[in-house]
Amino acid sequence: MSMKTASKARITAIGTCVPARVLTNFDLEKMVDTSDEWIVQRTGIRERRIADENQFTSDLAIAAVEDMIKAYGKTVEDVDLILVSTTTPDYPFPSVASRIQARFGIGQAGALDVNATCAGFAYALHLANGMISAGLHRKVLVVAAETLSKVTDYTDRTTCILFGDGAGAVLVERDEQHPGFLAAHLGTKGEGGIHLYRTGLSRRMGEAELAGNGCIVQNGREVYKWAVTTVPAGMAKVVEQAGLTLGDVDWFIPHSANLRMIESICEKSGFPLEKTLYSMEYYGNTSAATIPLALSLGIRDGKVKPGDTLLLYGFGGGLVHAGLLVTWMP
Ligand code: UT7
Repeated sequence: MSMKTASKARITAIGTCVPARVLTNFDLEKMVDTSDEWIVQRTGIRERRIADENQFTSDLAIAAVEDMIKAYGKTVEDVDLILVSTTTPDYPFPSVASRIQARFGIGQAGALDVNATCAGFAYALHLANGMISAGLHRKVLVVAAETLSKVTDYTDRTTCILFGDGAGAVLVERDEQHPGFLAAHLGTKGEGGIHLYRTGLSRRMGEAELAGNGCIVQNGREVYKWAVTTVPAGMAKVVEQAGLTLGDVDWFIPHSANLRMIESICEKSGFPLEKTLYSMEYYGNTSAATIPLALSLGIRDGKVKPGDTLLLYGFGGGLVHAGLLVTWMP
């Protein structure tokens, strides 16, 4: 589904956090039958960050919010809704959002977690824009945070080389004069859910018996094939909704699952790879957090400037995808 958003909101600040501990490809060579060469060539990943035993998703999420407050001089006490995108909450319940509310003493805020896997940041941003633009909220804190290392099987070389831990936080505030959300395109292929999952209360999906004992199971080939056709088509739809073309996009920020896949998406959509930002090289695939981490790196490196048009595109388990066209106006 594509929509031109009658937005009354914009993103006004960003912060991030990654754990200190580094797990390199050379470390992984000692753990499973793999090589730095294979991992770099197939995925573009060199290192990933791994949370300590006592460090959980809410800790990274809170640190990302603190980073945002420090970097942009913002307050969060007057936030009226907290949306957290995560697939690895500290507990099935209470939510990570409620932990953030407690830490910052945000008295009046509603708080909930949103699960749209690696597309979760884009989905949560879309919800924040919708809530504010409908006049239901004024200031929404959106956080994407993951500790995937805690649900990764480090004996499975097909997944353990991919994932890392990290968090990103943004503020979305009401601004009728300078709205920053231009268009959105969302989609789901639920029958592909079997290609990327973790077991929970159930060990079945439809007729299929699931593997994995609570760790991530992925049929990488199938997810790859789906993403490299779905994302280029979605990119075209989201810019079309805004009455623009891909030539109007300053920076494309797709979910950083795999550099080779991003190259293929760029080739198929005719979008220049040089105008693409990604975060997997030193952080791995951090699911919902890859897009804010990549945006933050782009700002740090002086690439993303105020007024730039960004095309954010999340995709992952579900299978779900979401593209958002936004203006970066902190
Ligand atoms: O974030 C959520 C969304 N997820 C994605 O977007 C992931 C999409 N998929 C991918 O990124 C890629 O499919 C992977 C990186 C996961 C895998 O790369 P691939 O090029 O699709 O490899 P493959 O699964 O087709 O495996 C090729 C070969 C196999 O060996 P055989 O059967 O050809 O002998 C694998 O066993 O590579 C082998 N292999 C490895 N070899 C060395 C798989 N993992 C490894 C490894 N090291 N870590």
